[in-house]
Amino acid sequence: MTVSADLQQRIQQLRQQLQKASYAYYVLDVPIMEDAVYDQLYRELETLETQYPETITSDSPTQRVGDTPAAQFTSVRHKIALYSLENAFNLKELEKWQERWQKLAENFDKSQYVCELKIDGSAIALTYEKGSLIRGATRGDGTTGEEITPNIRTIRSIPLKLTLDNPPPWLEVRGEAFLPLKEFERINREREKNRESLFANPRNATAGTLRQLNPQIVNQRRLQFFAYTLHLPTAHPENPPTQWQSLEYLRKIGFLVNPNRKFAKSLEQVQEYYNYWQTARQELPYLTDGIVVKLNSYELQQKLGFTQKFPRWAIALKYPAAEAPTQVKDIIVNVGRTGAVTPMAVMNPVPLAGTIVQRATLHNRDRLAELDIRVGDTVIIRKAGEIIPEVVRVLKELRPENTEVYQMPSHCPECGSKLVLPEEEAVTRCVNASCPAIVRGSIIHWASRDALDIRGLGEKIVMLLLKNNCVHSLVDLYHLQVQQIAQLERMGNKSAENLMTAINNSKKQPWSRVLYGLGIRFVGNINAQVLAKNFSSVEALSQASLAELEGVYGIGKEIAQSVYTWFKNSENLQLVEQLKAVGLQFSQQDTETKLSQTKNSNIQGKIFVLTGTLSTLKRTEAKQLIEQAGGKVTSSISQKTDYIVVGEEAGSKLEKAKTLEIQQLSEVELLRMLA
Ligand code: IVH
Repeated sequence: MTVSADLQQRIQQLRQQLQKASYAYYVLDVPIMEDAVYDQLYRELETLETQYPETITSDSPTQRVGDTPAAQFTSVRHKIALYSLENAFNLKELEKWQERWQKLAENFDKSQYVCELKIDGSAIALTYEKGSLIRGATRGDGTTGEEITPNIRTIRSIPLKLTLDNPPPWLEVRGEAFLPLKEFERINREREKNRESLFANPRNATAGTLRQLNPQIVNQRRLQFFAYTLHLPTAHPENPPTQWQSLEYLRKIGFLVNPNRKFAKSLEQVQEYYNYWQTARQELPYLTDGIVVKLNSYELQQKLGFTQKFPRWAIALKYPAAEAPTQVKDIIVNVGRTGAVTPMAVMNPVPLAGTIVQRATLHNRDRLAELDIRVGDTVIIRKAGEIIPEVVRVLKELRPENTEVYQMPSHCPECGSKLVLPEEEAVTRCVNASCPAIVRGSIIHWASRDALDIRGLGEKIVMLLLKNNCVHSLVDLYHLQVQQIAQLERMGNKSAENLMTAINNSKKQPWSRVLYGLGIRFVGNINAQVLAKNFSSVEALSQASLAELEGVYGIGKEIAQSVYTWFKNSENLQLVEQLKAVGLQFSQQDTETKLSQTKNSNIQGKIFVLTGTLSTLKRTEAKQLIEQAGGKVTSSISQKTDYIVVGEEAGSKLEKAKTLEIQQLSEVELLRMLA
């Protein structure tokens, strides 16, 4: 198909408008268009690109998220090595550094410093050719890193195309990728819900995310990027002569540059900047672990050069981490709802960054082996990411005699069954579904607000019920008697009755909440709603093929696999049957019978796929109307698809539908069916 000049022009125009809007939103933080307008333009571009795939360029705004997870990353040699920074911890060390460089650069009076915040994330290197992003890589060992381009492309504050009229043949930008604190917390909350181990701090979460093999997951975790280093070909006329001008230039060509930078003419001024940010950093939405002091003049930087590891012209002045020494009294393990067994150090209580800390996580068996921590050891603890206490190091020189190497238990401390060590993860697990720790966790999750919302069934009551052998599994909740509850500590008749009512009321909760309550790995409450909407009963969901699950809009491969596997387990199926027998809602039928008059029998239960641009309805509207009439809309064609609704400039989906002989509908026909 040839693309007319008009269309080419329109495609270019759309790309420019979207790029501008994205820059205004993610970099300048000053949106220039409504989300809906952006979506509309984006859709228009997407449709054109589907129609004319030969027009797609890798710097098109539609190409941020690739969909094929990499099998592994490849190594790349950095064009220019990424150095690390020497650390100073006080003014004295900073003065020594100044003396050192001044000795090497006599007759230089350009001793102006640029102070920048030291962002606590991961350094990455970006390569642009002729203004387009062609590669993103981790720092690695400084000379060789890992190519993580698909992941880097998902970072909205990294331009895919630079705003430069005459882009140089190549250009390198370095900076820090990081997770804003809110996003870090959101990810950990989500992981907790999905029964995954938590990230210890935003830095680890950033590094882990950058090395994620699936760019879709990276895209969901909103990484950010501050640019701080620019390399241009030496002969390039726009090569800035100073660090300050480089930062300005980076900003001008489309990067997010940290605004909290400052000139300093003396170390006193550097110290002022450091002192100010030591307090003010607590108000920042991301973590900083110090400041970076750089000589402003590139001429001077060049003269000073590098040592083996560091530039002589820059230094990091770090903030003291909130650390404290204490002694290990015991090492225990905690079994979570997912069966994950986490080792913990129990220590003499010590004050740390505002709280008294007695326990610190030792994460998993790998970390445990690395630390070789023993009962009786003196350890340094720290609040990782200023949130979760962890053991940083063991002071082996203070180790008393006759300590023993700690061994992870081979059996679950709660139920005695043999623990398993899945090869692909460092987490040790108890896999006994009736382990009291797992049952306790599952009941607490089942009763939680987003799940069955059973008021009054909190952690303490659950513990009491388990301790008194009133329940051994989730289903037992529904066989409880008021008298049994009333006899528990501090439970009168009234509260027992209230709790029973709340438990019985949970039988009225909809299928989506029941599904979420089951606690299937990766199925958070939003995913549960999406699944429940697309599979109107547990039968439909449990019989769905992997492809059908993946075909649901919003359900990724990992979730699909997890759901699919969960329903292949006979114990899980038995649990479903038992819960069904006591009256929990495992389908939308009950609610639907009431609404059935409003459902349309032509559409009820049918699977639709939309393709191309519809002339009167927006896609979201069409989807909503079909769903309201009892149909389902999926994003990809399969044998199960009943109808394909074909709009203008339909793309590859239509081709596939034709080969599978799926009935086609025009927009008018769809509207007629809906009516
Ligand atoms: S300059 C040769 N500037 O700190 C120049 N680094 O401890 C080296 N970092 O690997 C980097 N914020 O990951 C520079 N404003 C900043 C920084 C910064 C954070 C990180 C970077 C580097 C590490 C060194």
